[in-house]
Amino acid sequence: MEFGVKSGSPEKQRTACIVVGVFEPRRLSPVAEQLDEISEGYISNLIRRGDLEGKAGQMLLLHHIPNVLSERVLLVGCGKERELHERQYKQIVTKTIKTLNETGSMEAVNFLTELHVKGRDTYWKVRQAVEAANESVYTFLQLKSKKGEPRRPLRKIIFNVPTRKELPSGEHAIEHALAISRGVKACRDVANMPPNICNPQYLNDQAAALVEEFDSLSLETVGEDKMEALGMHSYLAVGRGSDNESVMSVITHTGADTSQAPIVLVGKGLTFDSGGISIKPSEAMDEMKYDMGGAAGVLGVMHAVATMNLPINIIGILAGCENMPDGKAYRPGDIITTMSGQTVEVLNTDAEGRMVLCDVLTYVERYEPDTVIDVATLTGACVIALGKHASAVFTQHNPLAHEILNASEQSSDKAWRLPLWDEYQEQIDSPFADMANIGGRPAGSITAACFLSRFTKKYNWAHLDIAGTAWISGKNKGATGRPVPMLTQYLMNKADMGGETS
Ligand code: BES
Ligand code: MN
Ligand code: ZN
Repeated sequence: MEFGVKSGSPEKQRTACIVVGVFEPRRLSPVAEQLDEISEGYISNLIRRGDLEGKAGQMLLLHHIPNVLSERVLLVGCGKERELHERQYKQIVTKTIKTLNETGSMEAVNFLTELHVKGRDTYWKVRQAVEAANESVYTFLQLKSKKGEPRRPLRKIIFNVPTRKELPSGEHAIEHALAISRGVKACRDVANMPPNICNPQYLNDQAAALVEEFDSLSLETVGEDKMEALGMHSYLAVGRGSDNESVMSVITHTGADTSQAPIVLVGKGLTFDSGGISIKPSEAMDEMKYDMGGAAGVLGVMHAVATMNLPINIIGILAGCENMPDGKAYRPGDIITTMSGQTVEVLNTDAEGRMVLCDVLTYVERYEPDTVIDVATLTGACVIALGKHASAVFTQHNPLAHEILNASEQSSDKAWRLPLWDEYQEQIDSPFADMANIGGRPAGSITAACFLSRFTKKYNWAHLDIAGTAWISGKNKGATGRPVPMLTQYLMNKADMGGETS
């Protein structure tokens, strides 16, 4: 989809559709008011007759309004004016795009960007609208034999901003949102791919295709032989029950002098997690194809940062692996020596994400990173704690926690910090090894983070548990593209190009 910004009056627009807001109860927004005047009360008449109350998400499509040049006007219910917060704004924009897409307007001029959203500026409103637009027209139809796309899909949206002075921030917002949307789409596409196609090698192929597109990117592939030589026995143990080889893809974005320490992102890339010998119950097991959501997110972020060519060095690692039961599979009771030299007693082969990540977290020491953030669909317990709305953030480094939470707030990609206190560490004590790979039911996400923390002593580190946010279940099942917006924002901030001031 194409986007643009302009600053003009509604009646002068000559387009397929103009989009204006109506508040509850039956109150016209200033722009709707302007249209009403020029059309000699056409809109207020309709509204008086009860055609639109103005409840959030209500839509009324009008044709050929007197004295208005555009073919259509879409009136959008925005709820009570004082209650127009960011969540409502995003919901309204999403619904608007869906309506436009289904009602034959191929182009629209959107005046919703002029509404007042508490605490948010034009940059934010345009950026969120562009991201929401791209997100809401997303489909994954590659594997359907009949594709069924809309006949006249929406192709272009122009956002109207109140003053010419705001045009540059609107343009920046579009540019940033497009980069993020590309990343989100890359993430969703690879995450939605079924596990008979998307295996660790496929992840690496996607990484290879991405680095082809951008000069700043390069790829190093670490297969099982190399892992063996490096002593990554814990990572290898998880993949041993699978016929699909483990593959670790290291994508490097060089945006600054190579003497600058990189920021490293590590994504859990379990292309399928059956649980292994500690096999999972069969209900919704298909969703464990999404256990590579962390890797998909990292791939998406690399796409976005390369698109923006951020002037910092970033390394994104996809830790590809498949967890299957088999005669060669690792078992409960096994004691494994990790790449760090620390030993782990496996009590549950379904706690495999940490077994893979711990070796990658040791591997990345070689980059002498400034910061390392791992991203993983790590624990069901995280879904119990935070549901599907927020990703969990764990770190012992307070400044890093704040940077991540700020980015989350700026990008409206919700995250919430959970504690990583030493008190929890003893839950993963083992009588036979340096640690066990599970810590019992209480605080399951925290003990998983505690496990990882033992492999991250050489740098500043944070862990994101995206088990609840990476995909949605049920009828509208699908990858969300999270946490690509938050992490991209974090990196944009690191590169000093955070928002409308850039
Ligand atoms: N990939 C799962 C976590 C998961 C489960 C994410 C459901 C999203 C939805 C992870 O590998 C896992 O199986 N974790 C176990 C850990 C347990 C054995 C300590 C879990 O959460 O049940
Ligand atoms: Mn598991
Ligand atoms: Zn898993």
